Amino acid sequence: MSEWEYLRQHPELARTFDDAMTSNSDLTGATIAAAYDFGAWESIMDVGGGNGILLSHVLKAHKKLRGVLADQPHVLERARQRGFLGGELAARTSIQECDFFREIPSGCRGYLMKSVIHDWDDEKAREILVQCRRAVPANGALLLVEWGLSEANLPSTGKLMDLVMLVLTGGKERTIEEYRALLASGGFQLQKVTPTASEYAIIEAIPA
Ligand SMILES: C[S@@+](CC[C@H](N)C(=O)[O-])C[C@H]1O[C@@H](n2cnc3c(N)ncnc32)[C@H](O)[C@@H]1O
Repeated sequence: MSEWEYLRQHPELARTFDDAMTSNSDLTGATIAAAYDFGAWESIMDVGGGNGILLSHVLKAHKKLRGVLADQPHVLERARQRGFLGGELAARTSIQECDFFREIPSGCRGYLMKSVIHDWDDEKAREILVQCRRAVPANGALLLVEWGLSEANLPSTGKLMDLVMLVLTGGKERTIEEYRALLASGGFQLQKVTPTASEYAIIEAIPA
């Protein structure tokens, strides 16, 4: 059984997991939002966006941007309860259920995924990217936010997370060159990599 199936069957644990991801993305969200011109895409879908805290940071920093939060139904139920996308953001935000192995909704120009691709091995990650490619329009982009691994033999949080992902989900961290090859296998061309004030990088890819 996958971690995600297990969480679906254990709502209390799923809530704790969402809260842990919310804490991580709340700590890093403002620096991610400030590092990159998300507003240039006019509309952004945060795919596997959890309870919506990262999208709330991005929308607060880019006032003209429209946002869609997409995740599994039980996760979105908690997102509605949390209300991170309420108040002043409600008019620019919508919520859509999705299974990113079956179909990712179209309708946005930018597609954001933080800490999603690292959850999966190359085969599954490619399946998600193929669904992303179907959703991303010709004038759009896919934006991955990941720890990444340095090419050189240097210490990095990504190396610790690589072990964590191996044990928890069977996923892995990747170097930029590994992301370039993985993205190409899903129909994308890696365009640029933007560092943030945290160890996360924003990897921008466009339809190949
Ligand atoms: C590691 S969490 C990242 C959450 C959020 N992006 C963040 O960084 O705070 C991975 C997310 O992928 C979602 N997910 C897992 N399988 C999914 C699927 N088949 N379709 C859509 N979302 C899925 C989970 O519900 C979870 O919210």
